[in-house]
Amino acid sequence: MIIRKTAVFVSGRGSNFEALADYAQKNDVSYQIKLVITDNPEAPALAKAEKRNLPAVIFSPTNYSGKKEYEEAIFEKLQEEKIEVIALAGFMRIVGKTLLTAFPNRILNIHPSLLPSFKGLNAQKQAYDYGVKYTGCSVHLVDASMDTGPVLEQEVVAVSDSCSLEELKDSILVREHMLYPFVLDKFCRDEYRLEDRKINRIKLSEKAKPYYENFCALHYSDNYEEFLKKFKISKREKVAVSACGLGIPCRYDGLSKSCPEVLEQVQGKRVLPICPEVMAGLFIPRKKMEFIKGDGCRVWFHPDGLRNCDGKNMNKAMIRGVQKLLAALNMAKVEKILLKSKSPSCSLSKVYKNGVLVSGKGVAGCKLEQEGFKLEEFKG
Ligand code: GRF
Repeated sequence: MIIRKTAVFVSGRGSNFEALADYAQKNDVSYQIKLVITDNPEAPALAKAEKRNLPAVIFSPTNYSGKKEYEEAIFEKLQEEKIEVIALAGFMRIVGKTLLTAFPNRILNIHPSLLPSFKGLNAQKQAYDYGVKYTGCSVHLVDASMDTGPVLEQEVVAVSDSCSLEELKDSILVREHMLYPFVLDKFCRDEYRLEDRKINRIKLSEKAKPYYENFCALHYSDNYEEFLKKFKISKREKVAVSACGLGIPCRYDGLSKSCPEVLEQVQGKRVLPICPEVMAGLFIPRKKMEFIKGDGCRVWFHPDGLRNCDGKNMNKAMIRGVQKLLAALNMAKVEKILLKSKSPSCSLSKVYKNGVLVSGKGVAGCKLEQEGFKLEEFKG
């Protein structure tokens, strides 16, 4: 695998830099952060770089006679380190001609709104004050203007009526931290193609891998705190449950609603939604599901989802999904698994085949049974 030498440019807090660095440490990624560049000697990001033993270089604009000279000095340093890609992470300057020419379509930025809405400073506040119902964040290529380059990926965040600006900023930031490492990795794998100003994703990425720390499930539109409250997550009993039991729409019937019976059972327990499609990163729900880092775990859903999957490679992916599922269950030392009785992939009694309910065992259910897990079916 090609590993692209990357420089991260920061001006402030550096939480996105941290997310990029920490993700790279835990995963086989195609970028390597070689260097942190800042225009601000006071940037808290500097301590974060030091903690990770990453060299940081301060370029104060006041030491240079103009933008050209400033960027030439930076470029010299980037050349020394053989940098191939630049990731702006809260870098508060417009990138000029020198760097744009030296790194054509090789500079990425993350912006806290759904571009092209709310460009520039305080994007979250702009969106909040405007009263939008959805906002989010965008990772885009950098061009000569501010926040106008081609969009690589975006994440949507719902703005609930009761949400404060601070809460909205936090929710967007959580999404930023999840999105940026994923996109940078995919970018460095050359999995985006620029056509005119449109970015096409050219390949179903192997990086669709979910990864697990601890676990708990979260609906796309929910927020983490609500989830923790709802499931009273504090006790340590480990339960896995069909994703559809938590109300995550199933690929086959698309009708699965959260099952009260399951919700009741998982109250006060730590839950891991299972679903081979989910584990394979194939899941393309009408709503995305994600796991959140920290007390919970986080899982990436492949943005291409099933779109690029024909029947043949879907089966293969499902099998990979089951393998990941087993690994996750073992790793999490799950004690009990709740399966939906009519799930096409998990059930032990009834499955859907071509839309018709027949007796049978789903691929995941079968495997879990073989592996000796304690299983319980629920209606739904
Ligand atoms: C983020 O909101 C990012 O989207 C924007 O600047 C902020 C930087 O935050 N470009 P941090 O320094 O990464 O914590």
